[in-house]
Amino acid sequence: MKETYVNNLRTDAEIQDFFMVKTIAVKIGSNKKQYLDLLLADRMGEVTAKKWDVADTELPSLNEIKEGDLIKVKAVVTEWNGMKQLKIMRVRRAVDQDGLELADFIKAAPEKPQDMLDYITRAVESMTDPDLKALCSRLLADNREKLLYYPAAVKNHHAQLGGLLYHTKRMLDMGERACLVYTNLKRDWVVCGVIIHDMEKLNEIESNEMGVASGYSFEGQLLGHLVQGVKTIDRLAEELGIGREKAIMLEHMVLTHHYEPEYGSPKKPLFPEAEMLHYLDMIDAKMFDMQQALEATEPGGFSDKIWTLDNRRLYRPAEV
Ligand SMILES: [Fe+2]
Ligand SMILES: [Fe+2]
Repeated sequence: MKETYVNNLRTDAEIQDFFMVKTIAVKIGSNKKQYLDLLLADRMGEVTAKKWDVADTELPSLNEIKEGDLIKVKAVVTEWNGMKQLKIMRVRRAVDQDGLELADFIKAAPEKPQDMLDYITRAVESMTDPDLKALCSRLLADNREKLLYYPAAVKNHHAQLGGLLYHTKRMLDMGERACLVYTNLKRDWVVCGVIIHDMEKLNEIESNEMGVASGYSFEGQLLGHLVQGVKTIDRLAEELGIGREKAIMLEHMVLTHHYEPEYGSPKKPLFPEAEMLHYLDMIDAKMFDMQQALEATEPGGFSDKIWTLDNRRLYRPAEV
């Protein structure tokens, strides 16, 4: 999770600022008093916030605050478990007169969703294998609406508006280049693998139209996007009349792209395009996480420990 500027403030600093509400809940504290537990966001990242000792009389107005709302808070910076947090003194919903744009509070992929979708569509149009082309076209058509805003994760890499498209587009871009270097790779299979590999994240993750994921769906919890993907390909292959060998190979690509059993893949890739798919996925996720972490790091300093990068602390050069 990338932090807001709050992380760079000293403890006890007071702030008055606008944030977007990512999650909000009334909870009961260890002192048996109710408190408001929030996850707030600005364009840079997220920060948790608490409003302690909420009286019953305050609840009606607090209950009006919903996920996705913009709010103004007056708060004090505190620290908990090594992370900066906000202790809210006052909070209110933003009003029209505040002149705010929701888009300014949403973490979004750096490219326009429609442009990314067009790029992917063009790659599909240039495929020569009619079966793989039909499968990709069908998946893009069926999922167009959700693709335009979906994040690629609840946390971690590409947890942002349009994140899944951005992840897919960058992998595709790199996959095309990999095919020029490794001429044993069949380009259509690499392109198709990239497009289908995470497509079922659309049904694994629950997200609002701001690309803010709230958690996992029922199928997502019990099956996950690899098995969900295999099921979808199985169904579509039948519908589209795709032969058994191709259908199973495509399912294999989805099933093996996480590579390790502990990350959900029961098998390792058994042909080059499937092997390449895994590495394209890894490179894009790691580059994304490194870029995010370093953007939040002072030049000449080390980042926080990055969980997705084996708790490494990255170095941001001072002069290079
Ligand atoms: Fe995946
Ligand atoms: Fe992926």
